[in-house]
Amino acid sequence: MATQRTLSIIKPDAVAKNAIGEIIARFEKAGLQVVAAKMLHLDDDKAGGFYAEHKERPFFKDLVGFMTSGPVVVQVLEGEDAIAKNRELMGATNPKEAAPGTIRADFAETIDANAVHGSDSPESAEREIAYFFGADEICPR
Ligand code: TYD
Ligand code: MG
Repeated sequence: MATQRTLSIIKPDAVAKNAIGEIIARFEKAGLQVVAAKMLHLDDDKAGGFYAEHKERPFFKDLVGFMTSGPVVVQVLEGEDAIAKNRELMGATNPKEAAPGTIRADFAETIDANAVHGSDSPESAEREIAYFFGADEICPR
């Protein structure tokens, strides 16, 4: 498996819990490197555009409301098999179904406030990274 990049977001609930450092430490301990990062307070347009694939879903309005409820930390993670590795570290979308020791099992209680986002495919990673970062904001190491 080649080196990949993936987009990670530490969502408002985890930022509010002061868990930014603990979550980033999990990425680093798993061999993923942070090659870009910024803190942002998303507005409706930016959050809605990010989650455009879910526009017709019943939870869309609440999802946008949650994602704009406080600051987030957006980062690009780089490493071997980064997309799947990040999804594995995150755990299932519903924290109640997330494997023990995953980020969502440890930092989230509900499906609508589930601590982290991670790209789910090479195509979404490419789109999502470009949605938040210009090429000059990514620092390969
Ligand atoms: P999804 O892309 O299915 O999950 P993941 O974040 O694991 O890739 O959904 C995006 C977000 O939408 C999810 O993290 C939380 C929210 N969501 C709900 O609030 N209710 C739901 O039933 C689903 C499926 C998602
Ligand atoms: Mg998803």
